[in-house]
Amino acid sequence: MKKRFLLVCLAIVMVLSLSLSACGGGSDDEGSAAASDGDKIKVGVSMPTKSLQRWNQDGDNMKKELEAAGYEVDLQYAGDNEVPKQVQQLEDMISGGCKVLVIAAIEGDSLSTPLEQAKEAGVPVIAYDRLIMNSDAVSYYATFDNTLVGELQGQYIVDQLDLENQDGPFNIELFTGDPGDNNVNFFFGGAMSKLQPYIDSGKLVVQSGETKQANAAIEGWSSEKSQARMENIISKVGYAPSGGVKLDAVLSSNDSVAQGITQALLNAGFSEGEFPYLTGQDCDVTSVKNMIKGLQSMSVFKDTRTLASKVVTMVDAILQGSEPDINDTETYDNDPSDDVKNIIPSFLCEPVFGDINNYKELLIDSGYYTEEELES
Ligand code: BGC
Repeated sequence: MKKRFLLVCLAIVMVLSLSLSACGGGSDDEGSAAASDGDKIKVGVSMPTKSLQRWNQDGDNMKKELEAAGYEVDLQYAGDNEVPKQVQQLEDMISGGCKVLVIAAIEGDSLSTPLEQAKEAGVPVIAYDRLIMNSDAVSYYATFDNTLVGELQGQYIVDQLDLENQDGPFNIELFTGDPGDNNVNFFFGGAMSKLQPYIDSGKLVVQSGETKQANAAIEGWSSEKSQARMENIISKVGYAPSGGVKLDAVLSSNDSVAQGITQALLNAGFSEGEFPYLTGQDCDVTSVKNMIKGLQSMSVFKDTRTLASKVVTMVDAILQGSEPDINDTETYDNDPSDDVKNIIPSFLCEPVFGDINNYKELLIDSGYYTEEELES
């Protein structure tokens, strides 16, 4: 079914490319299907929110790179994670003539209506960073290795507490992200593959008793909500920097959630040096500053420039009727409830460990941030 859809898309696209070259279109960039003059091919880019730094960077990078490749870009942010807005924006992109859609979904399974429309209109869809679920209209998926993100976080805690050699027990609390974001299954699953054996053996103890992914989920990846949950746990368990229950580690799947945890710990009187090991993801400016101050231990760096470049090559390949470069055809089934798998061909970029020791090389030398941006 999916193959047939792709073939129809490719046929439409090839006709389009041919008519462009017949009009003298075609980019100076070898390999780009976009027209360098006259009518440009329009690509729709849908991002979930403006309120988190990473999506602004993703959107900016995508726009810049697609425009440099000769495309016209319709870039939209769905307010602050507003699903109806994302649905409306996608419908507008399809009716507005976008030839490919790149979508970072707010909720993996809330986009069936616009995706049906995209399919009918022969518009291929690339799921960006987060997989779109329960739809046969998704052609490709570009993301980071999400399981590895979680594994890096879990392994970090294992290594810092030296769980192989120490008896413990050590106290840990678990936080992840929005339950509607399919990535959460991979982040939490990857981290727990490292931590669960030690919870089972009793070396790690979750004093709150909140051990399940559903307990650890933080709606909207909200810092306010993770702060509130951490504050509840602190008062329920009696965690304190001294004279109370010692908190050794907190697993957090990303930086916005980690920032709420940091705030809750500061409010409870923890200061630098008394903090538990605390993980994160994105190398968000606020979290990198917290790492420098000793208020967060690590963050997984996902270079959004790499992801954007990869997606631009995917868009180019699709519009030229060739197969985009993919490196995973096993992991991402977007219809797991069904016995028949619907694996989405994916490209997984590599996430990288970041902490106080390597942030300069990783983030400043690579030109991702300036030194000034990381000053407090
Ligand atoms: C992304 C993370 C991000 C989180 C919150 C996830 O889907 O992969 O990088 O921190 O959403 O926006």
